[in-house]
Amino acid sequence: MTAQLTLALSKGRIFEETLPLLEAAGIRVTEDPEKSRKLILATNDPGVRVIIVRASDVPTYVQYGAADFGVAGKDVLHEHGGEGLYQPIDLNIAKCRVSVAVSAGFDYENAVRQGARLRVATKYTETARQHFASKGVHVDLIKLYGSMELAPLVGLSDAIVDLVSTGNTLRANNLVEVEHIMDISSRLVVNQAALKLKRERLQPIMDAFERASRLKASI
Ligand code: ATP
Ligand code: PRP
Repeated sequence: MTAQLTLALSKGRIFEETLPLLEAAGIRVTEDPEKSRKLILATNDPGVRVIIVRASDVPTYVQYGAADFGVAGKDVLHEHGGEGLYQPIDLNIAKCRVSVAVSAGFDYENAVRQGARLRVATKYTETARQHFASKGVHVDLIKLYGSMELAPLVGLSDAIVDLVSTGNTLRANNLVEVEHIMDISSRLVVNQAALKLKRERLQPIMDAFERASRLKASI
């Protein structure tokens, strides 16, 4: 009997952008997570199923082997730490950046120069902690779970650390990007034990993902 594979994906852009990669591996998800409340989705391949989890939970499912492999943003992986995960492929999907942003009227450079203690609201506390520590800037981190852009507007924080892609969300909220922390794209992550025990099943899928993502990067 061949091993069953479980792939962890989050709904939305990662699911949508992973579909063509799955297609390249001959795998079609036969249910739509936007239309169904089901959390375990079948595919045309009886040996492959997809589980739908929160984007930030993908590394945890893969780390513990509840999923054999998954797709997660570098932002999420950096926060998780990557323990127990093999990260073989940059899929070149869901591209954006992690940045520091402030209200348009806030003189960030000056505050940093003066050695002011900054209040920074973010979902990415580990990334923010490392960034400001490397600059020698003292910060009080305020953990949020979403809509970071609101925090400086209502006096919760001086700055935010958040994802930026087009910059539309910052512009719409009169915020400006003052520092670029890192470029983000999504990675394929594989459970280290599954890689050894199910290599025969995983390798062709990984190869197809790699080819399709290289093709995408070259376009
Ligand atoms: P959670 O549900 O765990 O809070 P989330 O709401 O951030 O996660 P998504 O918005 O689907 O989940 O984002 C998933 C991943 O896509 C992020 O981790 C990031 O790597 C990437 N991403 C997020 N926003 C953008 C964007 N505007 N443009 C491109 N990629 C993005
Ligand atoms: C993400 C992120 C920012 C926004 C940045 O949110 O948390 O708020 O995208 O993208 P932009 O620079 O292109 O505005 P979310 O996933 O809610 O964004 P979405 O509207 O693209 O789904």
